[in-house]
Amino acid sequence: MNDLVFDTAPNDLDAFWMPFTPNRAWKQDPRFVTRAEGMHYVTPDGRRILDAIAGLWCVNAGHCHPRIVEAIRAQAGQLDFASSFGLGHPAAFEYANRLTEAAPPGFNRAFFAGSGSEAVDTALKLALAFHNIRGEGQRVKLVGRQRSYHGVGFGGLSVAGIGTQRRHFGPLLPGVSHLPHTHDPKRNAFSRGRPAHGGENFADALEGMLYAQDPSTIAAVIVEPVAGSTGVLVPPVGYLERLREICDRHDLLLIFDEVVTGFGRLGAAFGSQALGVVPDLICCAKGMTNGAVPMGGVLINDRVAEGLLSQQDGATEFMHGYTYSGHPLAAAAALATLQVYQEEELFQRAATTAQTWEDAMHALRDAPGVTDIRNIGLLAAIEFGAEAGGSPARARAIAARCFDAGVLIRAVGDSLVLSPPLPVTAEQIEQIADTIRQEARAT
Ligand SMILES: Cc1ncc(COP(=O)(O)O)c(C=O)c1O
Repeated sequence: MNDLVFDTAPNDLDAFWMPFTPNRAWKQDPRFVTRAEGMHYVTPDGRRILDAIAGLWCVNAGHCHPRIVEAIRAQAGQLDFASSFGLGHPAAFEYANRLTEAAPPGFNRAFFAGSGSEAVDTALKLALAFHNIRGEGQRVKLVGRQRSYHGVGFGGLSVAGIGTQRRHFGPLLPGVSHLPHTHDPKRNAFSRGRPAHGGENFADALEGMLYAQDPSTIAAVIVEPVAGSTGVLVPPVGYLERLREICDRHDLLLIFDEVVTGFGRLGAAFGSQALGVVPDLICCAKGMTNGAVPMGGVLINDRVAEGLLSQQDGATEFMHGYTYSGHPLAAAAALATLQVYQEEELFQRAATTAQTWEDAMHALRDAPGVTDIRNIGLLAAIEFGAEAGGSPARARAIAARCFDAGVLIRAVGDSLVLSPPLPVTAEQIEQIADTIRQEARAT
């Protein structure tokens, strides 16, 4: 027994400042987990909690997968750390090769980072540097979208569109505009999969913005193919296709932030493949290592990569990187994770399970106070809107009761968001839906 591995809740909760958490309130009523296996967490008193959110959209292959655990152990014992600044170690190269094989055609380079936030900042900098090097240095502006989440770096926060997360941090990056979000409950509530209405109109807002802004000053547009953290907003039919068209017309790079939609969540390696629209840069993290070691990355298409690599002065082509870019433990975990996804055919499995998931989620329409249900792949949100007496407090109370009833679900705003590990079974889906129904009735 290792005395640094704990099975009981700690006595003193003061020193650890918990991220994105109301610390004082949480510490009055804390909830702990100490173990995990497969689809479940285990609490200090031995209760098994079905994980309906894959940790935090990360643990796509299920917890403590033996193959991934073993890869991390073996790598930690052989090569704990090596910088990738001018020094190589094999696992990072091997993983970049395997990852680019899984990516859409034309993505043959990967830049590694330590998190989704770092991946986003890396992608924004790649876009700026690409234009700069090809003599379009006036392209310095960025376009994000309302209600988007792109992590917490100053770049990601600048293009993100959740006002409450920005309000204490000053003006952020200059030259950033935001597209309208695509949530249109009047026309699209209770859509199964991609909503039918509004796709091209929402995307045409980009053309409208370019009217006011001189498109030749804009470097890139960044969107999540499906907005996750704001409450699973699924792109309406035609939306991403139209964004791609407009970006092409004005030579803007299109960045997909696939930190949530990557690694099987939509039934393919990347959301880009599931949704049939190819961006120029793809940000990923989370499911990359099954959440087991922090890692993020950017997949770079050939045009951008070759533009940057074409510089002839022998200098560093992209003046950017992190101490932990391509960290040996992360690369080993990521290699093992990709093998697990492929050998257990988890992306195909997610695609097949998606219909059962959709049916079970939409059957919750009869639960009290539900005003919208959104789903795609193995993602869903159940909204308890104000028009039926709902509120963020009610969503939080339902999520807390679900935990006590044995299912981990997350509340964001007035919605419950769900993203189970990809091996989720039909019985487990039923348990998740039954628990939500029961706790919505009781709350
Ligand atoms: C779409 C998206 N981008 C970026 C991030 C940031 O990732 P990280 O928390 O690893 O920095 C997240 C995290 O939830 C995310 O959902």
